[in-house]
Amino acid sequence: MTGPKPRQPKPMHLAAHFPGVNNTTVWADPRSGSQIDFGSFEHLARTAERGLFDFFFLAEGLRLREHKGRIHDLDVVGRPESLTVLNALAAVTDRLGLAATVNATFNEPYELARRLATLDHLSGGRAAWNVVTSSDAFTGENFRRGGYLDRAERYTRAAEFVATARELWDSWAPDGTPRPFAHHGRHFDIAGEFTLPRSPQGHPVVIQAGDSDEGREFAASSADVIFTRHGTLDAGRAFYADVKRRLARYGRSPGDLKIMPGVTVVLGDTATEARERAEEIRWQQVSPQTALLTLEQIWGVDLSGYDPDGPLPDVDPVADPQLSQGRTRQGDSVATAEKWRALAQERGLSIRQTVIEAGARQSFVGTPEQVAAELTEFVGRDAADGFILVPHLTPGGLDEFVDRVVPLLQERGAFRTAYEGTTLRSHLGLSDPVWKA
Ligand SMILES: Cc1cc2nc3c(=O)[nH]c(=O)nc-3n(C[C@H](O)[C@H](O)[C@H](O)COP(=O)(O)O)c2cc1C
Repeated sequence: MTGPKPRQPKPMHLAAHFPGVNNTTVWADPRSGSQIDFGSFEHLARTAERGLFDFFFLAEGLRLREHKGRIHDLDVVGRPESLTVLNALAAVTDRLGLAATVNATFNEPYELARRLATLDHLSGGRAAWNVVTSSDAFTGENFRRGGYLDRAERYTRAAEFVATARELWDSWAPDGTPRPFAHHGRHFDIAGEFTLPRSPQGHPVVIQAGDSDEGREFAASSADVIFTRHGTLDAGRAFYADVKRRLARYGRSPGDLKIMPGVTVVLGDTATEARERAEEIRWQQVSPQTALLTLEQIWGVDLSGYDPDGPLPDVDPVADPQLSQGRTRQGDSVATAEKWRALAQERGLSIRQTVIEAGARQSFVGTPEQVAAELTEFVGRDAADGFILVPHLTPGGLDEFVDRVVPLLQERGAFRTAYEGTTLRSHLGLSDPVWKA
């Protein structure tokens, strides 16, 4: 007698976030290397490709962040330009997707469409663009236009930007001749001919990161992948359902948009060892100074007189803090401060413990078997289509995951055992864009 066929797990997508200036990175660890030497990018990218990951991901910051008028510690060594780094990585990898975060507020469609199409050509169809929309005036001072966009306008510009880039990518005829194109819109009024023939993917993959209602709507209308922070099972399921529901409005189906939260993984030979390692890493990530700095970023006032091992400040936060500049703001800082204060009170936490507790992103902590099971469960229960792994070490932070967890995911049938196609679109199971002839 034959029983029911075992259910084939939903394919999982994996990406590698390069740990540079984000505060998950532990620079005090003796295994930490440079965040700008090519060797670091190359090591992480080759590891991700060895693990058959979908793509390698670079974040972007367009101005060195400042805190109390000083350059932020993690920015002092700088951050190279993403597309340049990815073009170099294209030469030392074969299949790995290469994703650049590039701001839609401070760039122009013609120029950026050209740079992305170039990466797509040079890499044989592996380019992706993470469309971010920061519009703060501090970052804008580095650009001609300054911080001229208010929050509501950021996404109208981003949506028109992506649509215009796609018109440019579509503008060559199938026989390989350039066709004139013209776009007359609210934000862009451009005409001419594009400098490049259609690239292998036609349209490089578009990723969106941003969580507001407008951000979700923009992703539902225009993106192929969402990079999110909703990593817990419940928050992930709610976000997943909400975003997938929005797709129908744009004539798209649930498989057209992959949801990938940024998460961390800590492994150990036993569950206890993994938990101890995870705790040690969190304490390294949040030194007493980092704890105060994090709090000051939210409260918007100088808290240097406070003891990181003491209770949270009783002063009220400032609604629109200027103390820290250039940081991606996540929601309303007054509301965040209240939430953190409530957590600290309820659990009797010090400043440092609160930052450790409240500031953590979703972590998978355990033996390789436990982590593989949990990742598979998250995907199986529609909390995510995959994960963007954010390691805490540069550049070796993925080695252990690739060596110990990927084989277990493969055994479970949850992850590929070979790349099937050559383009990032094919790794992600996305259809090729229709080319309007
Ligand atoms: C997971 C995630 C990653 C992000 N990474 C970047 C980044 O690398 N560079 C950047 O300028 N903004 C980044 N952003 C900021 C967003 O583009 C956006 O400006 C911000 O989230 C506010 O938009 P929202 O109101 O839609 O959330 C990121 C946002 C999220 C949620």
